[in-house]
Amino acid sequence: MTATIIDGKAFAATVREKVAVHVARLKADHGVTPGLAVVLVGEDPASEVYVRNKGKQTVECGMASFEHKLVAETPEADLLALIARLNADPAVHGILVQLPLPGHMNADKVINAIDPAKDVDGFHISNVGLLGTGQKSMVPCTPLGCLMMLRDHHGSLSGLNAVVVGRSNIVGKPMAQLLLNESCTVTIAHSRTKDLAAVCRGADILVAAVGRPEMIPGEWVKPGATVIDVGINRIERDGKTKLVGDVDFASAAAVAGAITPVPGGVGPMTIACLLANTVTACCRSQGLAEPEGLTA
Ligand code: GUN
Repeated sequence: MTATIIDGKAFAATVREKVAVHVARLKADHGVTPGLAVVLVGEDPASEVYVRNKGKQTVECGMASFEHKLVAETPEADLLALIARLNADPAVHGILVQLPLPGHMNADKVINAIDPAKDVDGFHISNVGLLGTGQKSMVPCTPLGCLMMLRDHHGSLSGLNAVVVGRSNIVGKPMAQLLLNESCTVTIAHSRTKDLAAVCRGADILVAAVGRPEMIPGEWVKPGATVIDVGINRIERDGKTKLVGDVDFASAAAVAGAITPVPGGVGPMTIACLLANTVTACCRSQGLAEPEGLTA
C-alpha cells in the first residue's frame, strides 16, 4: 500500500483563507480588527525566524501584528508588566510569548500572567483545565492543526484507537485530550513505555511528537493507519542539512493509509492555527459567533 500524503501546506493555505474572510467580515460589519501581540525575549535565531513568519502571516490575513522584542537580560518583572499592558489593551485579542524563555524567568508564571481569553497558545492553566474537562477553551496550535487534518481525512474519529507518542504540555497531552473529546480510545506513550512497537501497531491514528529523528519505523505502523508526524528534526545526511520527522517517512508511507510529510505536514498548520485562534479570541471578546471550522 502507498499512503495518501496529507498536504499540510495546502491545508494551511485554506485555513488562512478562512481566517482572512472572517477578518474582513469583522472589520466591515463590526469595525473590529483582530490583533495579535507576539513577545520575544532574547536573540534565539530559530525563534526570530518563527516570530517574523508569524508577523508576516498575521498582516497577510488582514490582522494587526504587534511585536515586542526584549533583550535576554530583561527582568521578569518587566515582562510581566508588558503582559499586563497587553492584557488591558483592547486592540490586542491574542498574546503569544515565544518559548523558550531565558533561564532566569519562570515560564509557568509568565504564561499564567496572560489573560486566558487572550492566550492564543492555549498554555494557561485555565485553558488546560477547560480542555481537560471538555469545555470551550483556547486550544494549543499544533494539536489543533493535527485535529483539523484528522477530521478532514476521516470525518468522524469516534471509536478509533489513537496513540500519541510524547507527553509534552505543548503537544502530547493536549493532543490526547482533543482525541479523547472526539471519542477516540487514547493511549499516551513515552520514553518509558514498554514495547512501544506493539503499542504503536495498535494505532488507527498514530501521532508522533517526541523530537527524535526517524524514531518510528514502518514496522511499527498498522497497515492503513493514519500517521501524523509532529517532529521537525534537523539532521546531517550525505553532507547536507535535512529536515526529518519523528517517523521514518519512506518505510511508514509504504504501510500507512495516510501520512503527513516533513516538511510540509504539521509545521505550516501551527501558524495557521495561531491566526485561527486569534480570530476566535477576537469573536469571543466581542460576544460574536465563532468562525466555523477554525476551532476544536
Ligand atoms: N516555541 C516553539 N513553539 C512554540 C509555540 O507553539 N508557542 C510558543 N509560545 N512558543 C513556541
